Amino acid sequence: MKDNNFSLISKTILVTGATSGIGLEICKQIAIAGGNFIGIGRNVEKLQHYIEEHSLVGSKVVKFDLVEIENIHLLVSELPIKIDGFVHSAGIAHVSPMHFFNYNDYESIRKINLDSVLVLFSELLKNKKINKNASVVFISSISAIRGAKGNGLYAITKAALDGISKVYANELSSKHIRVNSIQPGMVETDMSKQAETLLSKEIMDIDRSKYPLGYGEPKDIALPVVFLLSNASKWITGQSIVIDGGRTSFL
Ligand SMILES: NC(=O)c1ccc[n+]([C@@H]2O[C@H](COP(=O)([O-])OP(=O)(O)OC[C@H]3O[C@@H](n4cnc5c(N)ncnc54)[C@H](OP(=O)(O)O)[C@@H]3O)[C@@H](O)[C@H]2O)c1
Repeated sequence: MKDNNFSLISKTILVTGATSGIGLEICKQIAIAGGNFIGIGRNVEKLQHYIEEHSLVGSKVVKFDLVEIENIHLLVSELPIKIDGFVHSAGIAHVSPMHFFNYNDYESIRKINLDSVLVLFSELLKNKKINKNASVVFISSISAIRGAKGNGLYAITKAALDGISKVYANELSSKHIRVNSIQPGMVETDMSKQAETLLSKEIMDIDRSKYPLGYGEPKDIALPVVFLLSNASKWITGQSIVIDGGRTSFL
């Protein structure tokens, strides 16, 4: 790939949720754009295989359970080099009406979707592991801005990600570190499969019919993420960008 404003040549990007769905595709697209990635996840086989198959000598996968918040400082201290970008794609969903609010459920979803990135990002900053001009992307959801039934706990974590990304963007602007979030609509991954198992195919088909361009595929999110990681987006910061095949724009 030729170096241009859209390429990621000579950049290394840290990606959580790198082992499945959207995060896995983000790693693949980073490599295609000429960059290196350090992918984090628990089930590392698929990504490890991709690295070996494509001889991505500058990229690697690190097995880590983000529930171990207290060990995140070790993960950061073992990072081989300073990074030029950071994507938080790790996430779990939870479906239950808010009148069944349960503190333990709230804590477990919050730990992965929100707390882990707060600790990880602050460790990266404190240990000066992020280069000037870096770009950071949090994967949020349209659930943060639309009140879908049963999505309360998930919405709390995603709305918080959107809010905090703007604070980071402001605080880090002097270092030219940009921070944005992306709010995807429904994308076909293990997470959407899990939703179909939990709800039903009929309910999912009704939902799918509300998407003018149908449900998305991981690449529909990964390519815009690569754009946000590249120099081509150097004037974009503090934004939450909806990518949903038109779902939230039409009556
Ligand atoms: N799919 C959608 O429709 C959709 C829509 C809007 C937003 N999103 C958001 O997009 C992001 C990616 O979702 P996806 O659809 O790609 O889901 P996915 O295929 O289920 O992937 C989730 C990722 O999160 C990682 N993860 C979960 N728990 C973890 C833990 N305890 N420690 C470390 N990693 C953990 C998983 O890694 P392991 O499996 O290796 O543990 C996996 O790589 C999430 O933040 C999700 O909320 C998805």
